[in-house]
Amino acid sequence: MSFVVAIDGPAGTGKGTITKLIAQELGLVNIDTGAMYRCITLKAIRKGVNSLEKSEELIQIAKDSNIHIENHEGNQQTFLDGENVTTEIRCKEVSDFVSQLSSIPEIREVVVKLARNMAEGKDVIMEGRDITTVIFPEAQVKIYLDADVEERAKRRFKENQEKGILGSYEQVLENVKMRDYNDMHKKVGALKIAEDAIIVDTTKMAIEEVKEKVKEIILERRK
Ligand code: DC
Repeated sequence: MSFVVAIDGPAGTGKGTITKLIAQELGLVNIDTGAMYRCITLKAIRKGVNSLEKSEELIQIAKDSNIHIENHEGNQQTFLDGENVTTEIRCKEVSDFVSQLSSIPEIREVVVKLARNMAEGKDVIMEGRDITTVIFPEAQVKIYLDADVEERAKRRFKENQEKGILGSYEQVLENVKMRDYNDMHKKVGALKIAEDAIIVDTTKMAIEEVKEKVKEIILERRK
């Protein structure tokens, strides 16, 4: 059986950065499930289908999408129907709609299957909102990363600035709060803490510290 590290937590806890670094250091395949929802959202926006009222069309778009993730030493590149969309899926339009789109149960089914297929036969570190509860409840390592909402918004804002993504801190904070609400109130696949997950509160921790802490937990279980 493959070795699975499952990491969940709300937006802006540093999940993406941490999983990437750990994947590189421990030789695990890094799978970011949020990127899959983002790909479907990007395709929907491009087609002008950006409302939950058109859920049938959104489901069809999800079913018709060919999403593919390539790993280069832990660095993930995301492809949608053959096009590299790694940067584009992080834009504000996608961030504003992705949480709503990911609340559609039929779309979640598509992503859950895809994520499980991607992990088959591999040693992976997978991050998202329902990895420890739905996708891999039997994972050998289950971690819930958390942090205060203002701290998470600050991190997202800084990250956006570095990537040249426009928008004020207040807008980012609003977006993070809205996504928290949506993520935690989904009918299927809601963000919650698995009973046997280890909680790591990263509010006062530097990325390096979080990485070391998570690595320690993984290595302990891998023995
Ligand atoms: O991790 P992220 O911010 O890139 O995720 C984008 C959105 O996708 C997020 O608002 C919630 C959703 N998501 C989800 O519902 N389940 C997952 N496993 C991963 C992401």
